[in-house]
Amino acid sequence: MEKAYLRPFGDKRNIRYPLDDIRYRSDDGAILEVVNPLDRFTPQTSAALKKVFDDRAGSWQPIDRSGVWRYREFLPAFAPYEDIVTMPEGNTPLYDMPRCAQYTGMRRLTVKHQGCNPTGSFKDNGMTTAVTMAKKIGARMVACASTGNTSASMAAYAARAGMRSVVFIPEGQIAYGKLSQALDYGALTIQIKGDFDKAMAIVEEVCQKAEIYLLNSINPFRIEGQKTIMIELLHQLGWEVPDWIIVPGGNLGNNSAFGKAFAEMKDSGFIDRVPRVAIIQAEGANPLYLSYTGNDRTLKPVDAHTRATAIKIGNPVSFDKSWFTIDYTDGCVEQVSEEEIARAKSRIGIDGIGSEPASAATVAGCKKLVAQGTINPSDNVVCILTGHLLKDPDYTVEFHRDELYLDVKRTSTVSGHRKIPTEGYKNSPVKMAADADAILAYIQKTIT
Ligand code: F0G
Repeated sequence: MEKAYLRPFGDKRNIRYPLDDIRYRSDDGAILEVVNPLDRFTPQTSAALKKVFDDRAGSWQPIDRSGVWRYREFLPAFAPYEDIVTMPEGNTPLYDMPRCAQYTGMRRLTVKHQGCNPTGSFKDNGMTTAVTMAKKIGARMVACASTGNTSASMAAYAARAGMRSVVFIPEGQIAYGKLSQALDYGALTIQIKGDFDKAMAIVEEVCQKAEIYLLNSINPFRIEGQKTIMIELLHQLGWEVPDWIIVPGGNLGNNSAFGKAFAEMKDSGFIDRVPRVAIIQAEGANPLYLSYTGNDRTLKPVDAHTRATAIKIGNPVSFDKSWFTIDYTDGCVEQVSEEEIARAKSRIGIDGIGSEPASAATVAGCKKLVAQGTINPSDNVVCILTGHLLKDPDYTVEFHRDELYLDVKRTSTVSGHRKIPTEGYKNSPVKMAADADAILAYIQKTIT
């Protein structure tokens, strides 16, 4: 059997690097991908493997219990699977969202809530594989730049593996839920003056100069783990392929992982068609959207602004990989405004599900794509909620108090300090005297 290897993404020159080569780019600057030898899958072995996946879902062994390592035949780069670092992650629920369906104009709408991961975001799916690889190559220190969730996840997995971690975050621009995690899990936390894109450039330079292993999604082993979000989803759906997957786009690693997962599942006979992937960006952080609508596949970075701080990224690392996903799945890119994100988040909320703002871009994008006629109301659509509400409680409270501004109020340095309208969607808290009769009268008047 051929062994897995690394190659420059999209490269036709047959350049190969061994898996334990600590590099993140080719000599001419292209990002890398893992090539997995999937030739041993046949229709028979694929059918048998589906049964194995079912059996593993009922096992208590950490390697089977994990919604990443359960699908390890799609992760041959990590074999043998000794010393895996697992929390265990994945196993995230699917929810039917009747109120969101109504809001978006769909007959039915499903979400997969990646915020139900151990550190509250989809990053755990990729961090378990990348930290396991870090352990295999003997790394003692790991690092990342982050809008918050990657740092929270990396800090936790590094701590579990007994490694030191260093996070680079844009000062004043990450949500406190996420910052508190990195601090508590013992990461050395460096706040950079500047935005995420600046922090990303610096961490790459630092990791190149020292023996520090880089764990952003430029690391191809992160992408391998994140593939399993889609493999697990299809397993949950009895291998029935939905019409659409809707995912937010920031640094663009997640949708890239989804495209790779669909290509590998199709090539190995697990599925016979692939869903279309819609990538949703915030209007103020939309380089992929501009490329898509401008029909120009060169990345033109933007100066990013959005209160969905997780996707406040103007110079995304996995831009080229995203284009593979768009082409391969006949996908599309849409942008949504701050107001659309905030309103969609409140509709997710009234279905009893909490997400952080970046995740709500999916439901906002779905509404827009239905209105345009791109998505049919009877299509089978799954929105990926990428992070938990408690990651950024300030946003939610400010929204319901009608105090939500485009710029984070804590810093309020950027010009254009615009208020995001919430009228008709907010659920403001009320102040009342501690008087039972008056309170009861108010409840009876308000809830009819
Ligand atoms: N949603 C959430 C909650 C995120 O944290 C991120 C990215 C995205 C969506 C976008 O995913 O980058 O793969 O396109 N957060 C990163 C971080 C960049 O540092 O935590 P992407």
